[in-house]
Amino acid sequence: MTTLLLHLSDVDEARWAETYRATLPGVRVVRRGDAYDPAAIDYIFVWKPKADAFDGLSGLKAVLSLGAGVDALLKHLSLPAAAIVRYVDTGLTERMSDYVVAQVTMHQRLFTRFKRQQAARQWTQQYPQNASETNVGIMGLGVLGTDAALRLKGLGFGVIGWSRTAKVLDGIRTFDGDALGAFLAETDILVCLLPLTPETTGILDMALFRQLRRKLEGGPVIVNAARGGHQKEADIAAALADGTLGAASLDVFEVEPLSPESALWGLDNCYVTPHIAAISNIDAGVRYFARIIGDHEAGQPLRNVVDRSRGY
Ligand code: NDP
Ligand code: OXD
Repeated sequence: MTTLLLHLSDVDEARWAETYRATLPGVRVVRRGDAYDPAAIDYIFVWKPKADAFDGLSGLKAVLSLGAGVDALLKHLSLPAAAIVRYVDTGLTERMSDYVVAQVTMHQRLFTRFKRQQAARQWTQQYPQNASETNVGIMGLGVLGTDAALRLKGLGFGVIGWSRTAKVLDGIRTFDGDALGAFLAETDILVCLLPLTPETTGILDMALFRQLRRKLEGGPVIVNAARGGHQKEADIAAALADGTLGAASLDVFEVEPLSPESALWGLDNCYVTPHIAAISNIDAGVRYFARIIGDHEAGQPLRNVVDRSRGY
């Protein structure tokens, strides 16, 4: 019988197990405390796996990642050679674009300025530039970046994008690889939806912020909903204080949870959310991975397999 092992930290593993059992009656679903032979495990479903997560799993057909991002998983010291399938879901994509649209629109409408004026009980009329006069630059044109770009385009924003390899997207000017500087020079609001890899670690730093276009009233803005490892938080705090950046929306942090000591909490032009931009949903997640397992058991190739050499 096909056997699926769940190994989840910081989420409700029992509920995931119940939902898998209800959805996959032909599959034996086990958890860490259960009695099972590690060599008989076909699939392991993981989130934040512990050091011993893969011990003895000699017959593994695939590692299934609850996260869309697999940076932490790829750093696991005992990661087996089996294929890694990451989570890709239209509901998760929609939630991420909801977050991006909310932040971008808020900054285009100069929310920080009017919030400050309200705190000072001050009535000064300042008219925000139109969406069509505002360029949003999306870093990463994969599943999430492409959807966010198309949603923003539909709202009338100028949208440009940057990716590792060249992309063609209707109505969106794209840049790739070495053209990062040219892309930043035309970006008013920068949205990071990159995977965390050695090439993208620490990319959101002061040197990058200084290359952004200074057209938006108050200064350029960054939105990071990808990984905290992309950002240098000391540089963000300094850039928000000295005006290099007008504002920042951050959903992810170098260390999570964000320390109560972090300067970012106290900056009125920094919008902090606790890594909630697009969390995986149990019903949709189980439906997705149940299909991955079912199709693979029926002899079809796995989908959304991580390319280990690229790191995403
Ligand atoms: P994809 O793998 O579909 O897309 C990644 C994109 O980034 C691709 O366009 C890729 O280029 C580009 N890219 C990768 N490396 C580079 C580089 N060195 N230079 C330029 N571009 C690069 O990922 P998703 O869109 O599905 O997800 C993106 C990230 O979002 C995840 O890795 C995860 O960390 C994060 N995430 C955060 C969530 C949250 O709640 N905050 C929820 C879900 C995901 P190319 O197209 O050429 O390959
Ligand atoms: C993910 C996340 O990668 O929630 O899916 O950050």
